[in-house]
Amino acid sequence: MAESMQGLKRTHRCAELSAANVDEQVTIMGWVQKNRNKGGLVFVDVRDRSGIIQVVCEEGKTEAALIEKAARLRSEYVVAVRGTVKKRSGAVNENLSTGGIEVVPEELRVLSESETPPFPIEENSKTKEELRLKYRYLDLRRPDMQRNLLMRSKVAALTRQFLAEEGFLEIETPILIGSTPEGARDYLVPSRIHQGHFYALPQSPQLFKQILMCSGCDRYFQIAKCFRDEDLRADRQPEFTQIDMELSFVDVDDVIDVNERLLAKLFWEVLGVEVPLPIPRMTWQEAMDRYGSDKPDIRFGMELHDVTEVVRDCEFAVFQGAAATGGSVRGINAKGQGQMPRKKIDKLVDFAKDYGAKGLAYIAIQEDGSVKSSFAKFMKEEEMSALIQAMEGENGDLLLFAADQNKVVWDVLGALRLELARQMGLLCKDEFKFLWVTEFPLLEWSEDQNRYVAMHHPFTMPMEEDLSYIDTEPGRVRAKAYDIVLNGNEIGGGSVRIFDPQIQSKMFEVLGFTPEQAQEQFGFLLTAFKYGVPPHAGLAYGLDRVVMLMAKEESIRDVIAFPKVKDASDLMTDAPTPVDKKQLDELGISIKEEGGTDCMC
Ligand code: AMO
Ligand code: AMP
Repeated sequence: MAESMQGLKRTHRCAELSAANVDEQVTIMGWVQKNRNKGGLVFVDVRDRSGIIQVVCEEGKTEAALIEKAARLRSEYVVAVRGTVKKRSGAVNENLSTGGIEVVPEELRVLSESETPPFPIEENSKTKEELRLKYRYLDLRRPDMQRNLLMRSKVAALTRQFLAEEGFLEIETPILIGSTPEGARDYLVPSRIHQGHFYALPQSPQLFKQILMCSGCDRYFQIAKCFRDEDLRADRQPEFTQIDMELSFVDVDDVIDVNERLLAKLFWEVLGVEVPLPIPRMTWQEAMDRYGSDKPDIRFGMELHDVTEVVRDCEFAVFQGAAATGGSVRGINAKGQGQMPRKKIDKLVDFAKDYGAKGLAYIAIQEDGSVKSSFAKFMKEEEMSALIQAMEGENGDLLLFAADQNKVVWDVLGALRLELARQMGLLCKDEFKFLWVTEFPLLEWSEDQNRYVAMHHPFTMPMEEDLSYIDTEPGRVRAKAYDIVLNGNEIGGGSVRIFDPQIQSKMFEVLGFTPEQAQEQFGFLLTAFKYGVPPHAGLAYGLDRVVMLMAKEESIRDVIAFPKVKDASDLMTDAPTPVDKKQLDELGISIKEEGGTDCMC
């Protein structure tokens, strides 16, 4: 039977108590972590979000009825304890911040009972994630999850404080908006009043924040929920949170400046980590050439070497072919991995194939200087020496090569570099290496759509010096776009926006929009631009990713209170769920059966 807490008022959280409270009367409330009955001596660990305090009931010091009650407690019962803080009579527990004190109770109430939980509520749970997510309320009681939620809340609070001090206004933008086909797939919401019409949930507040600049708001920010119907990964959720901002009368350096100071503040105040400013910058081209990635992890080296010219005239058809068809041959040097067994190298070849490689050529330089290689037979001795030299190969090194069109080579070696770093233990989670990647290409060719698509979004400003190529060589135009990368993760991205209606129209033209289509989808923005638009730029962080890295977690699911799983469902609430026929009728919607016929289910 649940008892009332009437007449009792919590005075402290459990782990707020310390030696300074000895001999004080206190009231704590929380969950029973465990109780130990030593016959006449009962210890109860009570837990709340701050931590654990030991309550001790001892014959002679505590009423017999209370000792009995304490002995009957079970894990996860919710209790209130009124008592006196004492120095521990027994051994001090060094693992607890309250390990030197205990509460001797005068009153104990059971506010709520609990069934046996399906998994223990403790740090570093080995419980399967499906079970954790089904019983998320229990999972969130665990200390590591509590710490993550606390950290996330702190990051949000500090961000608000910092941006307010910098003159940003926090403004909410709508969640029910019009669908725009650029970018990821939209989540659609049917309209009851306008049957056959749909709202979309925002993939980001992009258009609204630009409109806010047209509205004279000058500096906007929002901690905004965004929705994208895309394939999920460890760092991707269908709904996620951005720290979103936009600034008027600024250029790239201004956005970078305010954001560097924001990042430095967050990392210092949350983790005590100093972020050396300025954060290094690298152009997209350099990032691809050196790391094979537009979000390079610069905690370690193992950079790519372009050896196309060294092997252009060799007999090895794979290398020669790539060089002759406008591709490249590049390699990475896995230092000290020359002894890697053949089986393990074969696994790397398979790994490379998963990233689109047709193969992966290698040279394993043995400690005595001899080489084992998958293609030595096609090479002259001096060609091999030149290649090893170009790769800065030394005895004991493993050299791995990909030959193909640049994009494939970068994808393969970029991924392989990270995989090797993982295997070689080069990734240290305590190290935070930030990098700005700048000057992204404005456009990328989409094979699926057979047209150029915006690499960032259609509102990104081309670099002035490249504008002349926009008709003749659109692929060559660089953008005033920048990403902020942390340890190989894209934690944020943004750009200077187009504010000249003529350039915006040109951009839509290059993207294959007719003027009518552009008007239909983005007309309100184009019209707004006719009434005096300030030059503006902005950026958005993935808040979940920032907190994931700060908390040293592997997945953003561990820093989101109620995340979804790979198939975009919520294991706790079972969403998405079918809905009543009545609800569908109101919306004028019928569900198609597999195969295409309508079914009014
Ligand atoms: P972008 O699409 O690059 O830019 O998104 C900004 C940041 O949001 C995070 N992010 C995600 N996090 C979790 N799950 C997802 N599915 C997901 N998708 C993106 C990433 C990314 O860097 N409006 C522009 C910003 C701007 O130009 O100002 C935008 O949304 O960390
Ligand atoms: P093959 O002559 O096809 O047996 O290939 C010889 C070696 O070259 C093998 O180690 C292959 O994995 C490797 N290889 C094949 N295609 C490529 C490629 N596109 N890039 C790098 N190595 C390759």
